Amino acid sequence: MRQKIVAGNWKMNKTLEEANILATEVSGMVMDEVKGDVRVILCTPFPYLLSVKNVLGNSSRILVSAQNCSEHESGAYTGEVSASMIKSLGVSYVILGHSERRQYFGEDGKLLAKKIDVALKHGLTPIFCCGEPLSVREANGHEALVKKQIEESLFHLDAASLQKTVIAYEPVWAIGTGKTATSQQAQDMHAVIRKHLASKYGQSVADSLTILYGGSVSAANAKELFSCPDVDGGLVGGASLKSREFTEIVKSI
Ligand code: PGA
Repeated sequence: MRQKIVAGNWKMNKTLEEANILATEVSGMVMDEVKGDVRVILCTPFPYLLSVKNVLGNSSRILVSAQNCSEHESGAYTGEVSASMIKSLGVSYVILGHSERRQYFGEDGKLLAKKIDVALKHGLTPIFCCGEPLSVREANGHEALVKKQIEESLFHLDAASLQKTVIAYEPVWAIGTGKTATSQQAQDMHAVIRKHLASKYGQSVADSLTILYGGSVSAANAKELFSCPDVDGGLVGGASLKSREFTEIVKSI
């Protein structure tokens, strides 16, 4: 059974106080209302990781994640945050390769391969994001691009390391736009990703991997997206900032 995950990517939002309130509300609702084995992950800004982690307590059902880490181990990199620092907080996940990092901070596949390595080395589970911009989809190049993104940043891993990684397919044109992929588009791309991974690592490794969909997931569309056989959950941006809507999304899985 693949691990089902719903992750909330808070991006650069909330004050500390607001972050603690949101985490408290989500935690209460998820504990009361969500049954089963879905794992909920709150991806908070760096300054709130520890505080939100303390709010959530020791449950293995709700965990915290960073949204990025440095490709460097340590040293003179002013303003950067290393994988080992994140790990030392007791945090277990880190988002890597989000399209906003690729677009605004120039992160490319080669750099992301380094970040994946340093995250895995320090025992963090990367949530690796891939996905195509609108122009690429319109030119029908989306499958080739996503395969390339996966090859560049993940294909150097051995099977055991790959299995410690979560993949998130996030079409760039669906992020923050209110324009979600149809469940068919999501399923088709997730199947392509899984097949591509199977071609290198074998079917059983590919079948064991959690592949999340991201891009304008909401309480209204989550059920349909999550019902696709290759969609194992979601990476939720805007809708994760509202505790009730986020909980409804978690309940949709
Ligand atoms: P969105 O963001 O749900 O607001 O589209 C998703 C993401 O960027 O992970």
